[in-house]
Amino acid sequence: MQTSLIIVSILIEKTTANQKSLICICMRCISGEILLKILVIYDSLTGNTAKAAELIAEGAKESGAEVTLRKIGEVSLEDMKNADAVILGCPTHAFSASKTMKDFLSLPAVGESLRDKAGAIFTSCRITPMALRWLEKTLIRMNFKVLGKLGVHAAPKGREAEACKKLGKIVAENLKS
Ligand SMILES: Cc1cc2nc3c(=O)[nH]c(=O)nc-3n(C[C@H](O)[C@H](O)[C@H](O)COP(=O)(O)O)c2cc1C
Repeated sequence: MQTSLIIVSILIEKTTANQKSLICICMRCISGEILLKILVIYDSLTGNTAKAAELIAEGAKESGAEVTLRKIGEVSLEDMKNADAVILGCPTHAFSASKTMKDFLSLPAVGESLRDKAGAIFTSCRITPMALRWLEKTLIRMNFKVLGKLGVHAAPKGREAEACKKLGKIVAENLKS
């Protein structure tokens, strides 16, 4: 048992971050530990919020979560009900959330599926990430626990791209503890 632990440690030392997360996922599957299911739901008109959503999903995957990425219009109630955590994002439009996101969250069935869940929120904006305020206010009314929030400018690059990955990690790590 000790020898196999040493071998695993050596292997982990010599692997890249992505390989490490894969090893973690495999080890958790072998040990029978259930994978955390994280759902990332987004709206995006010109692709910037979509880019943020992809990076957030990547960060959550690196923490060993099973991640589903869905654009509004493609997400099902089943996806929401099955998720341990939900991360929602949209572009900032007219100092608030996009209409598509507002319409989506105003659907009673969606509200019910998200009730009492936990997760995070994000937005892409040109100047000020005002959508966060609307998202947080709306989700808190559903007794949704907001574990993190992030505003990025246009398509996230550099530090903002890293912050996106970190948001995914924060949600995954928070659920584990
Ligand atoms: C109709 C419209 C309204 C917008 N209003 C705002 C705003 O109030 N504040 C802001 O910072 N950016 C605003 N923007 C800029 C977008 O938030 C920004 O371009 C964002 O990166 C777009 O994300 P997307 O590519 O996912 O659609 C607006 C864009 C559009 C098209």
